[in-house]
Amino acid sequence: MNGAAPSAWPAPAKLNLFLHVVGRRGDGYHLLQTVFQIIDLCDTIRLMPRSDGVIGRVDALPEVAVEDDLCMRAARALQSSTGCSLGADIALEKRIPIGGGLGGGSSDAATVLVALNEIWQTGLDTEALASIGLQLGADVPVFVYGRNAYAEGVGERLQPIDLEDRWYVLVHPGVSVSTPQIFAAPELTRDTPLTTIARFASGTPTRNDLEPVVRAREREVDAALRWLQSHAPARMSGSGSCVFAAVAGEVQAQAVVAVCPQRWRAYSVRGLANSPLHDAVMAYRRVDR
Ligand code: C5P
Repeated sequence: MNGAAPSAWPAPAKLNLFLHVVGRRGDGYHLLQTVFQIIDLCDTIRLMPRSDGVIGRVDALPEVAVEDDLCMRAARALQSSTGCSLGADIALEKRIPIGGGLGGGSSDAATVLVALNEIWQTGLDTEALASIGLQLGADVPVFVYGRNAYAEGVGERLQPIDLEDRWYVLVHPGVSVSTPQIFAAPELTRDTPLTTIARFASGTPTRNDLEPVVRAREREVDAALRWLQSHAPARMSGSGSCVFAAVAGEVQAQAVVAVCPQRWRAYSVRGLANSPLHDAVMAYRRVDR
């Protein structure tokens, strides 16, 4: 291992193409059915190994306390489950909106787990990393596996799924939504009938059960959905706040982005078949260390 070389690792965002709440576990967590689509909007995480075992934060987001920082928690979880005596300085370049329903924090955690497992040479396999990831958040495993997936359970029972190569318009309506608050809402529908991958693939209508709850509470999410809907069928991702619409291609995506009201941030994003994290792992392994 090269003791001092920093390396840069991507952490992609996801969209939930649909999200059905089908039940609730005894511990309060919700049983879901959802499809995760990985997209090319990415955070970048720079990792600098340290020999003293310390996990340090560099240029941290001021709004995220150290104890809530999923990058730090992921590094510590990997240390404690492997007994590794090495440490790392972690720098996060944030591009994925926080509280946007795009899985940014979960993806950052997954990237730290996967990348430090390479850098520290702790040798865990993907299943072991995903199971550490699940302790950090329900959306972490899908980013560890790095494949688009049909998910059940609390989001951890994953089946890889091939999705069409698609462009999306993504709109961040300038507000951040608290996932626990939305899942705790009394008005949330929690008994959507079970569907199947086959029904999803054949175009049976789906929805995001969290969307009406967020729309009723956040005027800007409702307004962004109505605006995007006037261009293409639009839906909210995860517990919001971001909304998205599939469009015919990159040119169409950019045309919609260009006319987005200035108070919101719009992105033209591409659906990916695989996480760029796995290309980064391959590239890292190819370099002679
Ligand atoms: O797993 P994650 O940390 O993203 O979840 C945040 C919160 O959202 C949980 O603490 C829980 O309150 C709620 N949640 C849920 N059911 C899920 C996922 C999240 O109730 N499947």
